[in-house]
Amino acid sequence: MQESVTVVAPAKINLRLRILSQQTNGYHSLESVFCAVSLHDEITIARGTGEVELEVAGGVDVGPDDDNLVVRAARRFFLEIGATGDGARIHLRKGIPAAAGLGGGSSDAAATLAGLNVMLGHPLSDADLLRMSGELGSDVPFFLCGSPLALGWGRGERLLALPALPPRPLLIAHPGIPIPTGQAFQRVAELRGGGFSPPASAFSIDDLRRWERVARIAGNDFEPAAAERVPTFAAGKEAMLAAGAEVALLSGSGSAIFGVFETALGMDDAERALGELGFRTWRAETLDRMPSPRLPLAQRG
Ligand code: C5P
Repeated sequence: MQESVTVVAPAKINLRLRILSQQTNGYHSLESVFCAVSLHDEITIARGTGEVELEVAGGVDVGPDDDNLVVRAARRFFLEIGATGDGARIHLRKGIPAAAGLGGGSSDAAATLAGLNVMLGHPLSDADLLRMSGELGSDVPFFLCGSPLALGWGRGERLLALPALPPRPLLIAHPGIPIPTGQAFQRVAELRGGGFSPPASAFSIDDLRRWERVARIAGNDFEPAAAERVPTFAAGKEAMLAAGAEVALLSGSGSAIFGVFETALGMDDAERALGELGFRTWRAETLDRMPSPRLPLAQRG
């Protein structure tokens, strides 16, 4: 048991994201390659009594407490351990832009579950945390799967953790136009005229071992919907590629785009060009291991 714990909550990018079909529960079945990156939020949790209190650094607006994934994750955790009288004081420092497709809220939720479990002396098993994480949101389990690279399917919550790719410099660019995930899925459905029959395609796990091969299978089915919302989307992606990015894509349902570079050399040019197009940029790198506390693969229940 500890009095407090600090957890780093990394962002993710999707190296491949295909929307396969609409399920009867309204969700869409996906094929997704998640990759964790160094851009991150930071969460400090301290023991409290009775309530889950959230304080956000810099007064950043993260929406009402009842909707916030950090608060929901903490309340869910206390419910699960049968300690509804317990509470926590949680301090959140946002580094990841919201509604950007970078998984900020999902990563915060995963970090809250993992952090509380460490602080309270591991009352829950890793399997419990994974199950609860899937209930909180489709992208949350990835951040608990132990690897910075994973293939996801189902809603995105069924995962095959993979060995990490070598770390690469990364430029993340946000156009300042948020795209809520639900709306993005809805627009893709409209654009496809209600029919979900993407062309058959296959890729192998070997394609996820080397960046040169990742570049060949990279893609994101949300891009046509994002291009409608963000007038500078195509030019932004083009600027990444012109500056030498091996992979340039929309992340998740958007609206952030990213470029993975072989070396940091081309990043100055990309940063300048994207800045001129009105994007806010962040330099980062892809991760070759998840920050701790995480669920060690060897101990997963
Ligand atoms: O699971 P999560 O709360 O992150 O999803 C947000 C919204 O995105 C859902 O309410 C749903 O409209 C949509 N969604 C979907 N199919 C998925 C994941 C999310 O339609 N696989």
